[in-house]
Amino acid sequence: MLLSNLYLQFLCQCALTHVVYSTTIAEIQGPAFRSPLEGKSVSGVSGVVTAKGFYIQSAPLEDDRVSTGLFVFSESSTVLNSVKVGDSITLSGTVEEFIPSDDPTFLTTTELESPTNIKIVSTNNVVNPIILGVDRSPPTESLSALDVGPDGFLTVPGNQSLVDIVNATVQPTQFGLDFWSSLEGQLVTVPKPISIGFENDFGEFWVRGAWPATNVNSRGGLTLAVGPDGTPDPGPESVIIGTPADGTTNPTMCVGKTLSNITGVVQYQFGFYYIIPLTAPTVLSTPDGAVPPTTLTSVNDGCTVTIGDYNVDNLAPTSAHLSNVATDVVTHLLTPDIMFFQEIQDNSGPTDDGTVDASVTLSTLSSAIAAQSTVKYNFTEVISVNDQDGGEPGGNIRPAYLFNPKTVSLVSGIPVGGPLDAVKPLVGSEGKLTLNFNPGRIDPTNSAWDASRKPIVAAWETTTGARFFTIDLHDAAKISGDSSTQGSPRPPLNGDVSQRIAQVQVIATFVKTLLDADPDASLIIAGDFNEFIQTAAVFSPFEGLVSEVDDLAGIAVLDRYTFVFDNLMEQLDHTFVSPAVAQRNVEAEHVHINSWALSLDVRTSDHDPSVARIRVC
Ligand SMILES: *[C@@H]1O[C@H](CO)[C@@H](O)[C@H](O)[C@H]1NC(C)=O
Ligand SMILES: *[C@@H]1O[C@H](CO)[C@@H](O)[C@H](O)[C@H]1NC(C)=O
Ligand SMILES: *[C@@H]1O[C@H](CO)[C@@H](O)[C@H](O)[C@H]1NC(C)=O
Ligand SMILES: *[C@@H]1O[C@H](CO)[C@@H](O)[C@H](O)[C@H]1NC(C)=O
Repeated sequence: MLLSNLYLQFLCQCALTHVVYSTTIAEIQGPAFRSPLEGKSVSGVSGVVTAKGFYIQSAPLEDDRVSTGLFVFSESSTVLNSVKVGDSITLSGTVEEFIPSDDPTFLTTTELESPTNIKIVSTNNVVNPIILGVDRSPPTESLSALDVGPDGFLTVPGNQSLVDIVNATVQPTQFGLDFWSSLEGQLVTVPKPISIGFENDFGEFWVRGAWPATNVNSRGGLTLAVGPDGTPDPGPESVIIGTPADGTTNPTMCVGKTLSNITGVVQYQFGFYYIIPLTAPTVLSTPDGAVPPTTLTSVNDGCTVTIGDYNVDNLAPTSAHLSNVATDVVTHLLTPDIMFFQEIQDNSGPTDDGTVDASVTLSTLSSAIAAQSTVKYNFTEVISVNDQDGGEPGGNIRPAYLFNPKTVSLVSGIPVGGPLDAVKPLVGSEGKLTLNFNPGRIDPTNSAWDASRKPIVAAWETTTGARFFTIDLHDAAKISGDSSTQGSPRPPLNGDVSQRIAQVQVIATFVKTLLDADPDASLIIAGDFNEFIQTAAVFSPFEGLVSEVDDLAGIAVLDRYTFVFDNLMEQLDHTFVSPAVAQRNVEAEHVHINSWALSLDVRTSDHDPSVARIRVC
């Protein structure tokens, strides 16, 4: 039945009963983030049921700022079961901007609550979905007009304004939140979806469809990089697909699967604009699972060293993934001269028994690598103070090195630092720059490292005696205090960013001391910074001091990622080198062994490793 006929029929019914006022869905939704009728009782609302839950929709308007779909909220199964998809109904209720009590940073959802007086006017009506990419396309560069600041949505500090307070009239062609808000409650189709991440714990996953997109990488995902507008691009052209409305189960995902068209309703929930599919899509194609190994082999010429950098996700001696870490080092990183690891747990793993050394973890890993290759790595670490470094309780995760004694050695005759000993550069008796501890921790009692891993510095020599220094680090995690990229605070809150800024500052202070003592020192800094290079506030202490190898090696911008999170492939792991190294030939590659995994189950870690080949003389 045509919606216009439906409307006429509805008017006739009105005339026969005593209802004096009817409200359209468009009047309820309005052109802004919040409903103009918030808190008001409305009656005579009419629409066709598009999905269980339930959702109703009336005919689309010319004004595409205004949704003509609406979520009707009820906890009564009698109410929910009283209508079927395709029923044309009228009803009364109260307009609310729902905000879940557990997270005040989420946007509000416009909904009709306490529905009453539900009348079925006709059945078996068909609502045509809006075909995204044909009828409407999402913007590609920005989520919100409120993300002002030099780094767009990554600008620090965030929370300069709140979408729900500003309540702007939406600009759907410009901003992602506005676009998806303008479709709230509406039935849409995503043609030719491509998955751009793994599924989450609830079987939900992110896609983009057959419409324009920016920063699409070779795997089909979206790289977090600066977009054409000169600010970091949050990927507003992607959307998360929720639990199917019909009880079917979504297939498992990885980056780059192609899927059957998805039709569903747009609903804000759990901090994001979702499409709740009417039914689960099917997988049409899966990408090639083979990931090429690094091309940067060890050359052992006394001047060139290869380094690998890998966050190995809570590695203990008994970890099931230990042998996979070993295989990755052998088959994909090609046994670099030095491995910078992060998240090496102590010998008892997560058992909180006071164990603080990781020698068994490291020697077990070294043996597993030796079993698969000709390299017998030695290792070095600094033990921890129990339970002071964050991470999985009891695990005492730390950065630590494996090194190939055939190609490099620790500068000898220097004691290993204790957990509270601060490493310092000093000029040795023969006039060469050295350290007071080898390895040693940077300023370990500085409050910047509270409940966080302390970086470890080591001094090395090649087989011909060329000396160089390394820092292996793991900055504070991005766990607490972040708000959703699609939440109300703009720019979004970057919870622990002040700790990461302080940590990079402390590292920079150490690096300055070292380079003041010898401006020609060869220094390599690598590890998990838990931050994107585009969050400029975090990396500004490094400016003019050290250079990122991605730039020096000319890694394609869209290939600069080591982690898949929500809708983006992003770089948390970085390698920097001192000016003396930067002026020589620097090569670097990210090995996408985990980002390109075909399922979550087969990943070794949540991070990709990286390899660099660097000249230290
Ligand atoms: C939001 O904007 C709409 C449209 O301008 C307005 O009618 C409504 O009152 C606003 N709501 C709030 C809470 O400011
Ligand atoms: C964000 O800003 C709002 C409004 O100024 C304030 O009420 C709220 O506490 C802030 N949130 C955080 C986490 O700072
Ligand atoms: C998927 O959507 C595209 C674009 O609208 C359309 O050409 C194609 O026929 C659809 N495929 C199926 C199987 O419906
Ligand atoms: C391994 O390193 C330790 C110091 O960490 C050193 O005592 C030992 O000699 C090294 N072994 C080899 C084979 O280099």
